[in-house]
Formats: sequence, C-alpha cells, structure tokens
Amino acid sequence: MPKTQLSVNLNKVALIRNSRGANYPDLLKVAADSENFGANGITLHPRPDERHARYSDISQMKKIVTTELNVEGYPSERFMKMIIENRPHQCTLVPDPPEAITSDTGWNTVKYHNFLKDICTELRKHGIRSSIFVNPDLRMIEGAKKVGVDRIELYTGPYAHQFDQNAHEAIAPYVKASRMARELELGINAGHDLNLQNLTYFIQNIPSTLEVSIGHALICDSLYFGLKNTIQMYLNALEYE
Ligand code: PXP
Repeated sequence: MPKTQLSVNLNKVALIRNSRGANYPDLLKVAADSENFGANGITLHPRPDERHARYSDISQMKKIVTTELNVEGYPSERFMKMIIENRPHQCTLVPDPPEAITSDTGWNTVKYHNFLKDICTELRKHGIRSSIFVNPDLRMIEGAKKVGVDRIELYTGPYAHQFDQNAHEAIAPYVKASRMARELELGINAGHDLNLQNLTYFIQNIPSTLEVSIGHALICDSLYFGLKNTIQMYLNALEYE
C-alpha cells in the first residue's frame, strides 16, 4: 500500500497574514519550510471573498512548490480561469456557497452530473488531476465515477465529530465508501477536522487513502509544538506501524 501523503492546508496562515495587511507570516516561506519539514504537498483554498488564501497566492505558490500543489474551491468561472492559468497538480472541487465559513458537506454528484462532468473534462484536458469532495454516501461515489473524476476526497467532518463517542461507528460509513471507491478505481483522499487524535485510526481502517489535507488542527498544534515538530507528528501518525 503506498504511504498516505500529507498535504498541509495553509489557509489559516493566510488568515493571520491578512489580519494585519503586511506579508507576515510569509505564505511562500511557510510553504517552503513545510516541504523541508516533510510535508508531501501544500493545499490552498481561495474563497470568493479571499479572506484566507488569495487568488494571487496561487500563481506564486505554483512557482515555488516542489512537492504537489492542491487547490480547492467551488468551480466558478473565475476559479476555473485561475486553475487553468496556473495548473496546480490537483484541483479539488467543493460545493461551498460563497458565504460558507468552511466546507461542511460534499457534492450531490447525481444532481450536478452535467456540471461536474464538464469541469472534470476541462481539468483533464489541461493535465490537472481532479478530485471531488463527497460525503461517504455510496450513491454519491457512484455519481463521482460517472462524471469522470480521478479521485474523491471523503469529507471527514462527521467522522471527526463522532470519533470521541464511538470510533467504530464513526468509521463504518467511510470503510464502505472507500471499498466502493476502490472497486470503481477512484483514488481516495480525505480531509476536514482530521487531527492527531483521529488520524491514525482513519488510516488504519482505510490504508488506501492516498492523501489527507489538514489545516486547522495542524496549525493549532504548531502554536504549541512548532511547525517542524508538528508536521513530523502528523507524518508519524500516518506511519502507525
Ligand atoms: N478539505 C476541504 C475540501 C476543505 O475545505 C478543508 C478546509 O479548508 C480541508 C480539507 C481541511 O480541513 P481542516 O482545516 O479542518 O483540516
């Protein structure tokens, strides 16, 4: 089984930068350092109001990232133009409305079949790997296959919220969903609310996870442990043997 890749989501770092107007902390430096500390990828999620990552961050980031750049977002015309211009390694499609604080559900891949199919075709034409954010719902995963996406990103928010009460029940739908994704030859990514407490259990149960993208908890942990130690701790959590 290939090792699960850790993509560090730097939106929270951008949020701190934006709160003061100057270029501090420097997002590009934090990205380069994250890679030097062992991160396998960098994720940015520019939202329409650009309160965290800005659209202009993407072109600069693409120039310096030496691992993989994953850009997430709702595929508006503006977003897709930026993606095609900058060609990140992966584009993760999320269904968030513009005012969303954070992503809190996956796509309805059946209802939006035609829309998603066109977007995935466009991404493939430009050599960009596509991923669709989905709930662990078998119909939505079948729907994802039908639009021609390369990977799904399982929305792990509900898993993380239930983990403390009943980890076994929390993981069950994700195990079923990942089994179906593998049968359909869809790659599996995962993200949202993953942290040092719940990450290893997720990967133990779904070792075929190709990539996790983690932001909020990792940046919070960095306040106490420092970025270098924290990235190492997350990498260790992925190598549970
Ligand atoms: N995946 C997607 C699609 C997201 O929108 C986010 C949050 O930007 C994440 C993963 C990372 O979630 P968290 O910040 O909770 O680690």
